[in-house]
Amino acid sequence: MKTSQQNPIDQLARPLRDLRISITDRCNFRCTYCMPESHYNESYQFMDRSNILSYEEIIRTVKLFSQCGVKKLRITGGEPLVRKDCHQLISMLKPIQGIEDIALTTNGALLSQNIDKLKDAGLDRITVSLDSLDQHIFEKISGKSFPLQNILDGIALAKKQLSGPVKINMVVKKDINDHCVIEMLEYCKKHNLILRFIEFMDVGNLNQWSTKDVVSSKKLLKTIEKKWNVYPIDPNYKGEVAQRYQFSDGSGEFGFISSVSHPFCGDCHRARLSADGKLYTCLFAQNGFDLKTLLRNQTSDEDLLKTIKQHWTDRQDQYSQLRNTSSISSSKKVEMYSIGG
Ligand code: GTP
Ligand code: 5AD
Ligand code: SF4
Ligand code: SF4
Repeated sequence: MKTSQQNPIDQLARPLRDLRISITDRCNFRCTYCMPESHYNESYQFMDRSNILSYEEIIRTVKLFSQCGVKKLRITGGEPLVRKDCHQLISMLKPIQGIEDIALTTNGALLSQNIDKLKDAGLDRITVSLDSLDQHIFEKISGKSFPLQNILDGIALAKKQLSGPVKINMVVKKDINDHCVIEMLEYCKKHNLILRFIEFMDVGNLNQWSTKDVVSSKKLLKTIEKKWNVYPIDPNYKGEVAQRYQFSDGSGEFGFISSVSHPFCGDCHRARLSADGKLYTCLFAQNGFDLKTLLRNQTSDEDLLKTIKQHWTDRQDQYSQLRNTSSISSSKKVEMYSIGG
């Protein structure tokens, strides 16, 4: 069977460029907007180890995706650093032909002790999720009592060690941490970190999302403009998730990820692989395509490649764009922690 050499293009003319790989559904935090403690407690059954893709299976999958046009990988979780030897996976991904950029999204709790190994493995970039610099508010959001300073130390080490920029993701929720925005931006400006404000999204089914809790990027920009002169700058690449801004004094940049107020499905080139080997073509998908079974039942690389290409070719996802229309089904969506954001 001959597979077409061409990279697949979906039904909305979007190519496939990024693969986001969740390597575990477990996390050492319980952020209210992602894994609320009330649900993810001792009795919650996480994925069985036997159902989780091995690093070898992930490598094989990435080699196939690189033949579909994927150039950028993002390792996520749950919390990717709770999986043993995450750095070894990165060192095996690094040499794959066509892969130009490997990034990792982490909550930073285990960053200090892992950063040397991650750097040596070839990690290019890191993004740390951090929603407040106030210990009390941080604990309230992350659902764990953990010393914030350890995360800040990890961020400082990452900044020193990695060649690429260090980004901070801050999910802003009304009356929870919207008053922390200026302090966060001041900190990131001072330490040369790229802060991105994320609008609270209706991912998953358990975070009791309501538009009332969303703080729009427009509103945040107004607050920021009262303190600093800032101006918008061009995206680094077509389809970049964040709208970038720069400080007029040249002291760095920040961004807004406005999935609710300003959807960016038009250029969405991201596929997601869950830890149990399902392929999702949207963050808000209801179902994933079971690649793991194919990986484990002697399917040839050629047939797998054909299947992946077909799957992307059939893709029509544009959830954020259609959020407020009747064409969006109210069925159960995949949970954020199982596909890593
Ligand atoms: P860079 O490679 O640094 O440009 O970042 P990225 O595009 O990989 O973005 P990142 O993984 O840091 O995404 C930040 C956050 O944006 C995620 O945690 C999600 O909350 C949100 N996000 C990322 N991709 C999508 C997407 O395709 N759809 C929606 N709705 N939100 C997304
Ligand atoms: N809305 C917006 N962002 C979210 N994240 C997790 N859940 C949500 C949500 N409901 C982000 C986290 C982290 C990344 C993995 O996803 O901030 O940076
Ligand atoms: Fe864990 Fe990240 Fe989800 Fe928070 S947002 S519970 S750190 S996976
Ligand atoms: Fe892509 Fe789905 Fe996000 Fe739209 S909502 S940008 S299609 S992941």
